[in-house]
Amino acid sequence: MGAILTRREMVCATAAALTVPAASRAAGASEKSKQSAETDASGVLRFGFIGVGGRGTYLLRLLLQIPNVRVTAVCDINEANLNRALKMATDKGEPRPAAFSKGPTDYRRLCALDIVDAVVIATPVPLHAPMAVEAMRAGKHVFSEVAAATTLDDCWALVETKEKTGRTYMMAENMCYMRPNMQILTMVQRGVFGECTYAECGYVHDCRNIKFNADGTLTWRGEMARDMIGNLYPTHQFGPVAQWLGINRTDRLVSLVAMTTRQMALERYAANRFGKDHPAAKIKFAVGDSTSALIQTANGVVIDIRYDTLSARPHPTTNYYALQGASASYDSDGQKIWIEGRSKENTWETLDKYAEEFDHPMWREYESDAAKTQHGGGDFFPLREFIHAIRTGARAPVDVYDAATWSAIMPLTAASIQAKNQPVEVPDFTRGQWKNWKA
Ligand SMILES: NC(=O)c1ccc[n+]([C@@H]2O[C@H](COP(=O)([O-])OP(=O)(O)OC[C@H]3O[C@@H](n4cnc5c(N)ncnc54)[C@H](O)[C@@H]3O)[C@@H](O)[C@H]2O)c1
Repeated sequence: MGAILTRREMVCATAAALTVPAASRAAGASEKSKQSAETDASGVLRFGFIGVGGRGTYLLRLLLQIPNVRVTAVCDINEANLNRALKMATDKGEPRPAAFSKGPTDYRRLCALDIVDAVVIATPVPLHAPMAVEAMRAGKHVFSEVAAATTLDDCWALVETKEKTGRTYMMAENMCYMRPNMQILTMVQRGVFGECTYAECGYVHDCRNIKFNADGTLTWRGEMARDMIGNLYPTHQFGPVAQWLGINRTDRLVSLVAMTTRQMALERYAANRFGKDHPAAKIKFAVGDSTSALIQTANGVVIDIRYDTLSARPHPTTNYYALQGASASYDSDGQKIWIEGRSKENTWETLDKYAEEFDHPMWREYESDAAKTQHGGGDFFPLREFIHAIRTGARAPVDVYDAATWSAIMPLTAASIQAKNQPVEVPDFTRGQWKNWKA
């Protein structure tokens, strides 16, 4: 049993207090969802997994360490992946979960099961929204991998289904939980930055190799790159920035303008890896190597967001972030911070210097457990936050409005590029409610 949930489950009052900082990041954190948690008679929360490839398997491993939850069903069209997941559960001493692998819509049978309270979705990105909608309609809470949706219609479908069903919905954006990002959030909340005017973020990570299978056919990521344009993976970079700026809380996105480079890197990579006469080298990809967008908010903030998973470059650059406020400036490159009145004039300091004062309470509490998980420890918190939201009825820290808004950057960048870089309007998925919600 992990320490965190032992404390949470056994000392409810303490547990609630421990999660206040996280819950308070969510808009309207005091609002309760319509339902309280459904569990089996003994209070165990029963999970179904849809998609147990690389990510789903890791999430399953994390979930199996949490007390008072069980995995009762697994669905994957790949039988080897399915069987690996079933074995992980039984190796942990759990009864064998119900298994579903009869084709791409078999997840519907999992969603219909009475023995499942919540569903984890870790399938290819374009499948997330239809699966989440189906699961919520069937009465399940949903924890969806990123991004939540690829079209504006699907973003709206998520919002409308969540509102209609009252289920807990959370998008699994782990970058929001990385320690430096949470420290900056604390600093923003305590007024260190003053009013913010500008932020920069990027997901810049050479992922060309995982666009292809070993035989040169395309993976689902490769198919997205072949068929789609724009920012195809916006939430890792945008999530932390959105939380710092209070997007869907005290501010909202208003318009977006995007530009993309031409496609070069992937086609060149295919020829180099498979040979210039191989069918893989003849595939025409729609996506540009690098896509940038500027987003304007209602409060006059500008956010510069970049997506580039194709350009040749060394690892481990993945995400970068910058934030400019009236009285402080942060640049994740080198973890540099400058604070008016505290830092020397013209002198950057390292974020570490302020860790003691501004480390997020969740990180203080769970440092040793979190440090063992991937993505800078950011993977430790989201599933636990989701479970906490279900059990308490509190709003999820990355809720359906965040999921829709952050994911909408994908179709909106495509629309702007298609319109020869014209600005496009960003829908207000909260329908004006953001004005009444607190940061
Ligand atoms: N948060 C993170 O840091 C992070 C990291 C990696 C991946 N991800 C996300 O996780 C998701 C999965 O990525 P991955 O790397 O594990 O991909 P993957 O290809 O390894 O796994 C996808 C799994 O879904 C299964 N699947 C496909 N269609 C299905 C269907 N109709 N029904 C049931 N199962 C189906 C596949 O067989 C496979 O096992 C993606 O959305 C990705 O963006 C997030």
